[in-house]
Parts: sequence; structure tokens; C-alpha cells
Amino acid sequence: MANSFTNPLKRPLPDGVIPEDEITRTENRWVAIMLGMLGVMMAVIVVTGSTHSLHPPSNVETIDPTTLHLSGEFAESNLGTATEPDGSVTVRLVAEQYAFVPDCSRVPVDTAVKFRITSADVVHGFLLPATNVNTMVVPGFISEVRTSFSRPGVYRMPCDEFCGSGHHGMWAKVTVVPKEQFTQLASNERTSCAK
Ligand code: CUA
Repeated sequence: MANSFTNPLKRPLPDGVIPEDEITRTENRWVAIMLGMLGVMMAVIVVTGSTHSLHPPSNVETIDPTTLHLSGEFAESNLGTATEPDGSVTVRLVAEQYAFVPDCSRVPVDTAVKFRITSADVVHGFLLPATNVNTMVVPGFISEVRTSFSRPGVYRMPCDEFCGSGHHGMWAKVTVVPKEQFTQLASNERTSCAK
């Protein structure tokens, strides 16, 4: 439409000049193709987001990062996997330079799992590959992510926010075990991968 060449006299056009209605038709076709692509991309985002439970972390809870170890939810004795009355489990972790505490936790398969994580120092990232679990861990805030594992196995969790010279070595894991096996574990076995 930028080239608004008009042909009021309806005379044959000189060579190389394209009639306006043909230009309009071509431009309309491209507008339709672009809108179609935009629609497809939006649909892909909405469908994958809802079927894979992908969503931006929305939990806003604050906590004092300087007193985590002294008392409260993230005191050492509360870390690791805890069973809730409804059968789900909650995993509490502290991310710090350069480790997740505990560095390995066990959870049962096919069970609602809620991770609650906070940082004792700088921003870290918590990611479980091939799951919907991916959140930043920001000091002063509690990150909460819900998921459920459909297969037993070991999920390695890298820190995926650069947090200093030891960032590349900041790994931990989540071991997903069969339900029967999980109920037989002692509480210290749920927070460590030692036999
Ligand atoms: Cu912690 Cu990177």
C-alpha cells in the first residue's frame, strides 16, 4: 500500500509497473500469512504452557536470608523431604555458594511434590531437566514450584544462574523412588542419598 500508484485512465501500464489492485492483493495475502503465523505461535505457547504446567514462578513470600539457619522453616532439621498429611511431599532446600542443601533428596514417584527453596547469599537457579521445574532462587524470597515425577530415576539439578567462581560445580540431585520404597525410608534417608 506504500506504493499507491493509481491508474485513473485505465490505459495499459508501462513495462515494470504493477497495477495497484495486484499490489493490494499481494499485501493482503502477506498480512493474512503473518496473522496466521502469529496465531500459530500464540497457540503453541498456550498449549505447551497448559499441558506441561509451565508457568512463571508467581510465589511471593519473603524471608530474612541472614537468619535462615537459626530457626524457622529453613533451619537445618527442616530441610529435605517432608511428607504432608494429604500424602504429598514438600522438599525444602537452601541454595548457597556453592551447593544446594541437602545436595540430594529422595521423593516418591507419581506424587505431588512441592519444592520450597531459598538462597542464603546470592541469586541461584534451580532447574530439573525434562520437567517443569525451573526457577530463580533469590535471597530474601521463597521460590515455590510444584511438580510430579512419572518415572523413578535420578534428576540432576544444576544451578542455572551464574553465582560466582564455583557456579559450574553447583550441582545436586533429586532421586525419584517407587512409593513403597519411599514409605520405608527413615527421615534422614529422605534427605540424603547415602544408603
Ligand atoms: Cu549457584 Cu550458580
